[in-house]
Amino acid sequence: MATRLDGKVVSKRILSELQQTVTDLAQQGVTPTLAVILVGSDPASQVYVRNKQRRAEEIGVRSLMFKLPEETSQETLLAKVAELNQDPDVDGILVQLPLPKQLDERVVINAIDPDKDVDGFSPVSVGRLWTNEPTVVASTPYGIMALLDAYQIDVTGKRVVIVGRSNIVGRPLAGLMVNHDATVTIAHSKTHDLKALTREADILVIAIGVPHFIGADAVKPGATVIDVGISRGADGKLQGDVDAEAVDAIAGALTPVPGGVGPMTIASLMAQTVELAKRRLH
Ligand code: GUN
Repeated sequence: MATRLDGKVVSKRILSELQQTVTDLAQQGVTPTLAVILVGSDPASQVYVRNKQRRAEEIGVRSLMFKLPEETSQETLLAKVAELNQDPDVDGILVQLPLPKQLDERVVINAIDPDKDVDGFSPVSVGRLWTNEPTVVASTPYGIMALLDAYQIDVTGKRVVIVGRSNIVGRPLAGLMVNHDATVTIAHSKTHDLKALTREADILVIAIGVPHFIGADAVKPGATVIDVGISRGADGKLQGDVDAEAVDAIAGALTPVPGGVGPMTIASLMAQTVELAKRRLH
């Protein structure tokens, strides 16, 4: 049986440490503040945003919620972003994605002050990541690194294969892994002979959203397998991109779905919001 990389347990520990940091900051007159903009009524986004708010409240981070209607214009959204950029009490700004189709995601993300870009999605943050400068990085990759760290799984010199090249997970995770001295390959839907590649991985990360895409035959014995996928099966149950039952017998370590990467993502968002807020002390 593979070691279970328990994101629930690790994120709880991180959140309780953060709560202490937030208390200390409060004594110095700083309340870390996260501004979340949600446009429209995408059901999944509403759940994500509610969870983010709940966690924030739990640890004493102030969360400001801006719900804008589905038909919001680009101009209105950009005006809201500009207002938050100017607000000295706001440390981090997060525009929940996906946006309704009349809105240009790139333009909106580019409008966020890079120093408040708590998602790490802006080109400036991405550039800092790839030049290995201090920066905020996307929450999910940050959370994956923190989870590996909690289980003392060192990535130095390891062969890491990431399946999925999204701006939210695959690409930024590759940057972080390189910065931590791993040897990284990003695979995707056009990759030839994917299975031969994934079987070479010491650390295999799958972030494509295809249930049970990775079976035991795609995994090297003893490998660490990180399952970022989350989809709902016909039975309503959440499932990952990994056939966990089969892979459990061959992997050295495996993240469960749910309870693996998911809780780490929110904890990471909070950690980076607090980091941004610390800058107000200087
Ligand atoms: N939609 C799905 N994941 C994310 C995320 O990490 N940040 C934002 N802003 N939107 C998302």
